[in-house]
Amino acid sequence: MKALVTGGAGFIGSHLVEYLVAQAIEVVVVDNLSMGKLDNIKQSDNVKLYIEDVRNESFMQALLQREKFDYIYFLAAVASVADSIERPCETHEINQNAVLNMLEFIRTAKLPIKQFLFTSSAAVYGNLPELPKNEDARVSPLSPYAIDKYATERYVLAYGELYQLPTVCVRFFNVYGPRQNPSSPYSGVISILTDCLRQGRVFTMYGDGLQTRDFVYIKDVIQALWLITQKSTHHQVFNIANGRELTLAHIIKTYEKITGRDLKITPMAGRLGEVKRSVASVGKLTKLGYATNWSLKQGLTQYWKGAQCETS
Ligand code: NAD
Ligand code: UD1
Repeated sequence: MKALVTGGAGFIGSHLVEYLVAQAIEVVVVDNLSMGKLDNIKQSDNVKLYIEDVRNESFMQALLQREKFDYIYFLAAVASVADSIERPCETHEINQNAVLNMLEFIRTAKLPIKQFLFTSSAAVYGNLPELPKNEDARVSPLSPYAIDKYATERYVLAYGELYQLPTVCVRFFNVYGPRQNPSSPYSGVISILTDCLRQGRVFTMYGDGLQTRDFVYIKDVIQALWLITQKSTHHQVFNIANGRELTLAHIIKTYEKITGRDLKITPMAGRLGEVKRSVASVGKLTKLGYATNWSLKQGLTQYWKGAQCETS
């Protein structure tokens, strides 16, 4: 079996690569290292890394033609909502057009894939009041990032139905864990919190801290992705989350307790285009056999332990 993981040197992608290799799957990674890191990919005979841009159509087409992948996991993206608001056109090329071009090539070249999995986001649900969000809930994408994710989902599902391609979409809620890159002000909040607590840096808090998110530990996410790969899931959408709604203020308190450190906080106005409350129903995923194994406390404790090893 052979898999392509775009964005495989990034946070979620690199954990997926590790897992696939452990299942004896041959893995090819395409990543331009804009956020990913070489160190995230462990040397193995079963992994080949191309430092390339998914927008490079001729490269991607030659790769697909040559390698004949069984599974394609499309994770490459500019993953930040705030960054997409800064540069909507550039992020659109990556977050939507690169995916569409790949689907079109798979269709026209009649490549015999077993599954094409697209990683969408909870951001598509926006600020509509119904909570928790199930996959059939109304959507209201508020940012270029969320618009691209939703529109691309529709392409992925329509390609599946119209051209009989085995496609599936997942909507990640807020994933956290080791290897999430904290280097950008647009990075995932738990990676930034970890960095601030480690280095005694000041944390900028946007808004009142009462915004909520459904934080899910990376190991639960990989469990979910593998279930979706193994089961009959074509042409469907799955939430991947923990199923608990927690405020940012609560996350900070819990993390302070775990680390025994106090976070220095500078308050700032809330960010534009953000979702205020977010929590998933994971009923559909649970029916596939999914069960969350990592509470917030367990996940943060494990993440902090790893971060401490990196420091020493
Ligand atoms: P990440 O930034 O760590 O990973 C994305 C990877 O894509 C990075 O390694 C980056 O270098 C690479 N990349 C970016 N642009 C590229 C390009 N033009 N060509 C090739 N590679 C490129 O982010 P992540 O958190 O691992 O996110 C993975 C996927 O999951 C993304 O599609 C993201 O939108 C989605 N997602 C993430 C979360 C989350 O909480 N982390 C939630 C919802 C959805
Ligand atoms: C995150 C993901 C996005 C995903 C979405 C799904 C990243 C970078 N973003 O976006 O890919 O689609 O979940 O729900 O992985 N905050 C601060 N200070 C900071 C950083 C963040 O207060 O320094 C706040 C933000 O304003 C926000 C909350 O923390 O209210 C979470 O922010 P962030 O981690 O960027 O997540 P999302 O915007 O939810």
